[in-house]
Amino acid sequence: MNIALIGSGGREHALCQKIRESRLSKNIICIPGNAGTAKIAKNINLDFLNFPKLLKVIKSNEINLVIIGPEEPLVKGLVDFLKKHKIKVFGPNRYAAKLEGSKAFMKSICKKNKIPTAKFKVCKTKKDVNTFLKNSNFPLVVKADGLAAGKGVTICKNKKQILRVSNEIFKGKFKTSKKLVLEEFLEGEEASYFLIVDKKNFQFFGSAQDHKRVGEKDVGPNTGGMGAYSPAPIINKELEKKIINKIVNPTLLALKRKKKPYTGFLYVGLMIKNNEPYLIEYNVRMGDPECQVIIPRLNTDLLKIFNSAIENKLNKINIKWKKLKSMTIVLCSRGYPGKYKKDKRIKHLKDSYQNKKTFIFHAGTKFVENELVSNGGRVLNVTSTGKVFKTIRKNILKSIKKINWKEGFFRKDIGWRVI
Ligand code: AMP
Ligand code: GLY
Repeated sequence: MNIALIGSGGREHALCQKIRESRLSKNIICIPGNAGTAKIAKNINLDFLNFPKLLKVIKSNEINLVIIGPEEPLVKGLVDFLKKHKIKVFGPNRYAAKLEGSKAFMKSICKKNKIPTAKFKVCKTKKDVNTFLKNSNFPLVVKADGLAAGKGVTICKNKKQILRVSNEIFKGKFKTSKKLVLEEFLEGEEASYFLIVDKKNFQFFGSAQDHKRVGEKDVGPNTGGMGAYSPAPIINKELEKKIINKIVNPTLLALKRKKKPYTGFLYVGLMIKNNEPYLIEYNVRMGDPECQVIIPRLNTDLLKIFNSAIENKLNKINIKWKKLKSMTIVLCSRGYPGKYKKDKRIKHLKDSYQNKKTFIFHAGTKFVENELVSNGGRVLNVTSTGKVFKTIRKNILKSIKKINWKEGFFRKDIGWRVI
């Protein structure tokens, strides 16, 4: 099969690697890809939000299946567009992608279907905000309604802060929507739970815990994710049943009733308190960097899994997992998630490979005249598998030391909960 993979992050490098390993794969194009995917596939530098241009490239490369990594093209309806043009594609339709694309939509599904989540109010005006404040205690969480590249959520300690943040959103700071969701702060431990979904079935696709704050001990601003490990030990069998029955089933049913069934990866972002799951967010894709720790544990041909999903036969495939744990630490450009410089040379990557168990997924990287340089905030995902998280982290840190990239930084405490 010829595959087109949309995206350029560590998630896409991990997916690309696994697709490359499949006996079913022939040519792979990555749009636009990164320096890591360039070594195992063909990168095509193209704006994937330009759907007609993308379609041309897909047709001229005789692509049999399109896999979409990031949320933006999904939320903007790329799946609907490609299907209309008779191209096979894996991912949710535009309506279902609102689970991530609109927090107000996601919350309304929760309310209608009694899905456990933080108490909330969708606010369009300052008056709405004040009404919610009357009956709530701090801290509270303000969330921009539309996609905000991970920057739309603020945990507020007082009324002044809430009014300032809300006002910015009402004025259009996040261009995708001027609405916001105001909600209570949930205490507990966060975990991410993944599924692969077709029109009739779904299957478990791993669990992980991410580290969103930029600084060690979980301080500083939120990022796309500074490191992750899989599996998430907090997710036990009993909790899993509750996640499926109280959260996943009612959501999938609600979309089926609208005649817009969900298909694709589903990322269930949870807060766990007293062995009870609460939905914090849905993402309509794999996580990044969660994908980079889940894919190395997968023991089944990924293209076979995608094919089953496309044919709505996920119930017929046995998805197997290695009995290994895995972890990734993200090497970032200095300054991230604020301002940072690009095009900084990374010289010692080849020396960093310890053994078969430690490998590097590229994120913001590219080649310029055969030199590897940085091209984003999150640059490399140094990843390893093993039996004990402590040893895995040690191996990763050894690798990072060898990369010896002076322009970068990383968190040394990834996995503190399990080490
Ligand atoms: P979201 O984009 O909704 O996932 O929010 C980003 C991050 O903010 C989450 O991963 C949590 O760490 C935090 N967060 C969001 N909503 C809440 C909440 N209601 N209570 C506590 N933390 C939250
Ligand atoms: N790592 C968080 C996300 O992918 O949204």
